[in-house]
Amino acid sequence: MANPTIAAIDVGSTKVCTIVAEVTSHQELRILGVGVGPSAGLTRGMVDNIHAAIEAIASSVERAERASGTRILSAHVGIAGPHVSSMNSRGIVAIADPRHPITEQDVQRALESARIVNVPNNREVIHVVPRFYVVDGQDHVVDPSGMFGSRLDVETHVVTSSAAAMHNLVQCVEGAGVRVESMVLEPLASAEAVVDDEELHQGVVLIDIGGGTTDIGIYVNGAVVHTAVLPIGGLHMTRDLVVALRVPQPSAEYAKREHGHAIPSMVEEDDELELDAFGSDGKKAVSRRLMAEVLQARSEELLEMALAEVRRGAEPEMLSAGVVITGGAAALPGIDYLAEEVLGLPARIGRPRHLAGLSDILNDPAYATSVGLLRWSLKEQAIMFRSTPGPAAPLGGLFKKVAHLMRVVLPQ
Ligand SMILES: Nc1ncnc2c1ncn2[C@@H]1O[C@H](COP(=O)(O)OP(=O)(O)OP(=O)(O)O)[C@@H](O)[C@H]1O
Ligand SMILES: [Mg+2]
Repeated sequence: MANPTIAAIDVGSTKVCTIVAEVTSHQELRILGVGVGPSAGLTRGMVDNIHAAIEAIASSVERAERASGTRILSAHVGIAGPHVSSMNSRGIVAIADPRHPITEQDVQRALESARIVNVPNNREVIHVVPRFYVVDGQDHVVDPSGMFGSRLDVETHVVTSSAAAMHNLVQCVEGAGVRVESMVLEPLASAEAVVDDEELHQGVVLIDIGGGTTDIGIYVNGAVVHTAVLPIGGLHMTRDLVVALRVPQPSAEYAKREHGHAIPSMVEEDDELELDAFGSDGKKAVSRRLMAEVLQARSEELLEMALAEVRRGAEPEMLSAGVVITGGAAALPGIDYLAEEVLGLPARIGRPRHLAGLSDILNDPAYATSVGLLRWSLKEQAIMFRSTPGPAAPLGGLFKKVAHLMRVVLPQ
């Protein structure tokens, strides 16, 4: 039997990326194909032109289908934007017969009770992520099933989205001919791709600086404690350069990507650059030092907003592993030094690792969310099988279930 396959679509504000991967018998991902194209119809993570967004998604999906020689039927999709919010919630259940060990169904009941938070009817719950369990007052239990106790509490991180914004995104993906298997909050996905277990355990901040949004995830003791999506990113840096240098947007984008720096003192004072100017085919000389000053100002503002979110989630001494910066704008030289300065924590750049197959292009911070969507979904599915009620299935049976749930692509 062929290995099961899995697909993910990251509908970003600058690019749409679709990945198809095979899941090996060791639960590792082997990339079969990637399709990347420019994004359209989306601002700060929210759809503002359904037709343009459908076209952009369809084109990325088609490229991934061609590259992998498969047909994508369904996919896991990333969601982010100012319409998403998160909170921590506790679920509590009584164990009917404390003489019997706690079952997966008890755990599910506890999670359900955490989910019943006050959610207005114009919002939908996207995730109820268990952070840790408490069994009869014993704190920080990782997995309570099989333990004895009469009361089970679960601490969760609940993520909700505006129902309309979420349905618009689903509509766009389905309009491109792909069923939405699940929605995943983008910072949770990015962390799966670029942060390792030891960092999660020692406490870490994930910052994914994209085009229109910056996604933040804060992890303490291996569990997420806070997530946030800031409506600011690399597009704002480019826009600032357009205004400061008085050059067209494509010139500013080129200058930023090829010659940008976040630390002005690391750029020679008289270093100049020739850029295409507005209007005629004239050129314009611009100072790289001035560019760096503009980029520093915006990056500092963005990192200060990130710091405010970090303070909401954790104390600095809980974050020994520091900051992992990813997303397309993590390629800006000096952004890690600036982050160390503003956040007062060690910082590194995170890129997706440990991928097999056609994965060269994905070894770039811009693909953290796309790769993370696959990893997150794989992990979720594993949990789902574990919690499927009934007698323990032999390995073959489990694998069949995996195959059924992951029949998201067909060979062409
Ligand atoms: N070398 C570079 N230096 C600075 N910025 C860069 C560089 N390369 C890419 N970027 C910026 O990264 C941003 C795109 O990042 P990314 O691909 O992560 O965004 P996205 O996922 O489409 O958007 P979002 O996550 O906000 O919806 C763009 O603003 C782009 O200009
Ligand atoms: Mg992104």
